[in-house]
Amino acid sequence: MDRYRRAAVDALGLRHGSTVLDLGCGTGLNFPLLQERVGPTGRIIGLDLTEEMLEGARKRTERLGWSNVELVRSEFAEYDIPEGVDGVLTTFALTLSPAFDQVIADVARVLPERGRLVILDLKRPDGWPEPLVRFAAWLNRPFAVTLDLGERRPWESVATHLAHVDFREYYAGAIYLSVGEPRPRS
Ligand SMILES: C[S@@+](CC[C@H](N)C(=O)[O-])C[C@H]1O[C@@H](n2cnc3c(N)ncnc32)[C@H](O)[C@@H]1O
Repeated sequence: MDRYRRAAVDALGLRHGSTVLDLGCGTGLNFPLLQERVGPTGRIIGLDLTEEMLEGARKRTERLGWSNVELVRSEFAEYDIPEGVDGVLTTFALTLSPAFDQVIADVARVLPERGRLVILDLKRPDGWPEPLVRFAAWLNRPFAVTLDLGERRPWESVATHLAHVDFREYYAGAIYLSVGEPRPRS
């Protein structure tokens, strides 16, 4: 999974000093890779719905002595993305929200030109036999994965609200990476 996380963080195109928002950051598994990119002069905003997850992210942040991480407890759809965010990452999280399309539209409105939204998530793989799809969903149930989430297609929202600059599939189509950036504003 680290390989995919690294590909996702690479796709953000961050630089030292950038500000990045990690939507559904969980315990902050993406933070070490993000820190490599933004450096001590950059900033990471980690947002999550649950205090338990944020507590894990807080412990990681304190243990590693990072002073450039801000943790926010919020629903994705209720968060007003602040000015100055250069990139938005979400890994194995955004599809869990029925409001994913609105969230992607909000991200598209606030991202600067050449800012990136990167989504790494599970998807219903094309061409797998139904029993295998059901088994894969069952295996992933600790991560709140259910079969009906297969109907959600956030990469289509990326193509609607942003210019879709990359789409890749991994794991025989069970994982995807979708990258968008704002269309030129006139
Ligand atoms: C499977 S975990 C992934 C965590 C982390 N991004 C990772 O890659 O390890 C999904 C996370 O999304 C958060 N989440 C789910 N629905 C959410 C929502 N509507 N608003 C904010 N966070 C949400 C959960 O609390 C959880 O921490």
